[in-house]
Amino acid sequence: MGKLFFTIRPYRPEDEEQVKDLAFRSVVDGSGSPFYFMLRHVFTTSLFYFYYFLFLAGFTAAISFTGIRRVLGITLFHGVGFFMLYIYWNVRAAFVDYVESAFRTDMANIMTTYKVGDKSPSCFWVAEIPSTNLWKSSYEIVGCVGLDSSTSADLKTAELRRLYVSPSYRRHGIATALVNNLMTFARERGVTTLYSETSNLQVAAQFVYSSQGWTVGESKNYPYEAGGLKVQFKKFYKSL
Ligand SMILES: CC(C)(COP(=O)(O)OP(=O)(O)OC[C@H]1O[C@@H](n2cnc3c(N)ncnc32)[C@H](O)[C@@H]1OP(=O)(O)O)[C@@H](O)C(=O)NCCC(=O)NCCS
Repeated sequence: MGKLFFTIRPYRPEDEEQVKDLAFRSVVDGSGSPFYFMLRHVFTTSLFYFYYFLFLAGFTAAISFTGIRRVLGITLFHGVGFFMLYIYWNVRAAFVDYVESAFRTDMANIMTTYKVGDKSPSCFWVAEIPSTNLWKSSYEIVGCVGLDSSTSADLKTAELRRLYVSPSYRRHGIATALVNNLMTFARERGVTTLYSETSNLQVAAQFVYSSQGWTVGESKNYPYEAGGLKVQFKKFYKSL
């Protein structure tokens, strides 16, 4: 894999659209997103294998028979097909809701929430590369991360949030570089403990934290489950 050159810099207001698009793709679209992790789980449960069987049985009846058996086959085929689509959209809606709630809260005004440019132990960074679509922008944002000290009682502890890397640019060390940059900044601002929350659906993020020596702390359940898989958030800690 060739080396990818990217630059890390603080967020600017004109980055908003690209950062929100990156967050959306990281959570909902693209391989490695928590949505796909959950969908893969739901669509490979034994109950779903039964639906696939019904779907195929309906399809076979629809093309092999005539009369009432054909009508029953078409009904079964469409019924099961629409039901599976309904499940797909239901699961997707839960993840769209999750990312949109971020757009209404800390990501509604990144400059303000993450106090970009002031002297506090908070900031938001993006990783950019030169754009291949110069009509849209001269740069493409391929990663981001936020440091938020407002979620803890004292300024010695801060939260790492919104670590996202574009699905097309993963495994190039972008997250590692963003996290290293964040840790250096946090240390300089007097932060001694960092924490971050990530779910059991975000396997790559857990690998990134573990590879950088973060330790796992307490877990809490998130009020969503599908196909018997409960979403659980784990806290990761790093002493600086
Ligand atoms: C988690 C995420 C930010 C990682 O970004 P990235 O730029 O691909 O990570 P890096 O290239 O810096 O990976 C660093 C190391 O972590 C580990 N790692 C990262 N992704 C991995 C994966 N999918 N499987 C196994 N190990 C992985 C590897 O050890 C890797 O080092 P290596 O490539 O030299 O082997 C990215 O996958 C992502 O945006 N995921 C979806 C959103 C998300 O879950 N964000 C976390 C919110 S808390």
